[in-house]
Amino acid sequence: MAQRYYRIVGKGDFLDSDNEKEVSLRLEKLGELIRYHNDLYHAQGTPEIPDSDFDSLWQELIALEQKHPNLVKPDSPSSNVGSRSSTPFAEVEHRIPMQSLDNAFDIEQLHSWADKIQRRLEENQKISSWVCELKFDGLAVSIRYEGGQLVQAATRGDGVIGEDVTDNVRTISDIPKSLGKDAPEILEVRGEVYLGIEAFDSLNRVREASNEPTFANPRNTAAGSLRQKDSTITASRNLSFWAYQVGESKSASLEKGHFEILQWLRKLGLPINEHAKRFTRFKDVISYIENIEELRHDLDYEIDGVVVKVDDLATQQKLGSTARAPRWAIAYKLPPEERTTRLIDIEVSIGPGGQATPFAKLEPIFVGGSTVGTATLHNADQVIEKDVRPGDLVVVRKAGDVIPEVLRPVISERPKNSRPWKFPSSCPACETPLERREGEAATFCNNYECPRQIRGRIEHFVSRGAMDIEGFGEQRVDLFVSEGLIRDVSDIFQIDFEHISQMEGFGELSVTNLKNAIEQARSRDLGRLLFALRIPHVGITVANLIAENFYDLEELKKAQIQDLEIIDGLGPKIAASVFGWFTNQRNISLISSLQELGVDPKSEPTFISESEMNLMGVTIVVTGKLKDFSREQARKIIKERGGKSPASVSAKTTYLLAGEGGGSKLDQAEQFGVLVIDEAAFNYLLENGELPE
Ligand code: IVH
Repeated sequence: MAQRYYRIVGKGDFLDSDNEKEVSLRLEKLGELIRYHNDLYHAQGTPEIPDSDFDSLWQELIALEQKHPNLVKPDSPSSNVGSRSSTPFAEVEHRIPMQSLDNAFDIEQLHSWADKIQRRLEENQKISSWVCELKFDGLAVSIRYEGGQLVQAATRGDGVIGEDVTDNVRTISDIPKSLGKDAPEILEVRGEVYLGIEAFDSLNRVREASNEPTFANPRNTAAGSLRQKDSTITASRNLSFWAYQVGESKSASLEKGHFEILQWLRKLGLPINEHAKRFTRFKDVISYIENIEELRHDLDYEIDGVVVKVDDLATQQKLGSTARAPRWAIAYKLPPEERTTRLIDIEVSIGPGGQATPFAKLEPIFVGGSTVGTATLHNADQVIEKDVRPGDLVVVRKAGDVIPEVLRPVISERPKNSRPWKFPSSCPACETPLERREGEAATFCNNYECPRQIRGRIEHFVSRGAMDIEGFGEQRVDLFVSEGLIRDVSDIFQIDFEHISQMEGFGELSVTNLKNAIEQARSRDLGRLLFALRIPHVGITVANLIAENFYDLEELKKAQIQDLEIIDGLGPKIAASVFGWFTNQRNISLISSLQELGVDPKSEPTFISESEMNLMGVTIVVTGKLKDFSREQARKIIKERGGKSPASVSAKTTYLLAGEGGGSKLDQAEQFGVLVIDEAAFNYLLENGELPE
């Protein structure tokens, strides 16, 4: 029988058997797992699984125990919440319990929460404003000020009893140690201690440099850092804090609404997050959430949702709480960005440049807002370092637009017979031995004719950002390559339409469309073609920059390295790469084939009237820093008006346009007797086609 793993993704994965023997076994296993992961999380500070998975274990345990109370184990984790006995900290009893929040996982649930609480209120008590806050992914603490002085700080613990972490909290620079003269007699502030992403990354960099194991994520690191016996360790971790609630208070003339309370806390010197907002219309709450989903990855701290709160304190009171959570607030959870799933196999993909990248084939999992079936493992070293193996349960991360990646295996769930994975010695597509270049992390297939490389090059060439040839989806590229119709990008322009029209799935219309799309591509602009050719270090921005400086392929073919180096924003490395590419024999033939096949890209033409073509026959070299233009722009204008603008001064140069700090070109101008003009003269020249008298 297949091993029953702990992973519970949705209800469907819960044990749905009522067979007492199976339930009892499952409860025992769940107890074991919860204790194991609890210990890793609390005692060792090195959790293996994401919190959402740990929550699922709990949910399954509680659900099974409620359904089968007779089968509850005497040592069940449910009878020993949070294993308080193991804490090295003194206990703190929360005078007002620190509650949790109910969750909404989609907008519909959010609406039904709002409707439900509205219905609890009387007719004339319409909820008139809502406060939206970020749901910070850290750990909740309560900080007590007496007479304005910080006297105690405690973790949430089980909500009733927490741990005394006063000494550690005092080391957090965000948290004021005294609140000044306006402080009330007693004020208990609640909020989230967290570790910023930059602080987390730099902490891990330091650990890596000193060969210490790195931390898994900011949230767990924040929790571990706050629960240190030695507060100098806490101090070294750069923790931060956001306040979001008042607990107990005495002689505080509290405002009437939550939003005003936040402003008051801010005035007392407590850190209040800038994204807290108040709205009167619920539809603005929804827009806020949509905005935050966009903004999420621009923040320097992790969030896992948005908290929506009823603003008016009197209404909050009327709504009250359930045993677990207040009714007047809800956490709208953003999709988790880390989940566990089974790694089915590790394969190697071959990129268009021959780079061999290991990737994981996964049991599909919903993470970071979409279902993921493959995730990158980056390179050979990373697989070894992480020791992920086929069959492992792995933690997968997908944040925003970033490519999903496998973070680590869950060692406790490793199948018994698993073996470390070995990087293949030859290309999976063409069997050429793979090569690891000296000093590089990447491994390569060096066969230019490798079918995967051909496919990759073509897919890139036709893609929307490059030559934008419609009707060339991945499947068609696959088909044309495997049919031998295309062996390189130039073949696109001599494709055998006769052959294609005989192929299954190609009606007259689709062949005509394909023909037209290819025809149009012949005159795409130069920037797109340069990008499409995958010249090393040439992304679309650099490609466009080069295109701005050369009118067409002919001109570019003749370019010397200096002509490239002078382009602002290119630098010697890119210039050398472009020059190297255009002087490589294989590429020279590719370019001539393309030209012979009618590919004739021009720089994006700017509309210039005939009377403005007033620099025909004029050669102007540009140097120094100009005020009104970049050197690039000046060169472009000269060329647009029919002039030439080479890199260096020669006897053929008409003028040297010199901005600030012109340097050696000024000497050359003198040597060749070239007239040096300034920007004002240049502007006059553009206007009038000649210099002022
Ligand atoms: S209000 C009684 N506001 O979320 C309600 N909680 O899942 C008190 N959290 O234990 C909580 N950001 O640790 C509130 N802006 C925010 C929050 C927030 C994060 C945490 C808090 C709480 C947990 C509940």
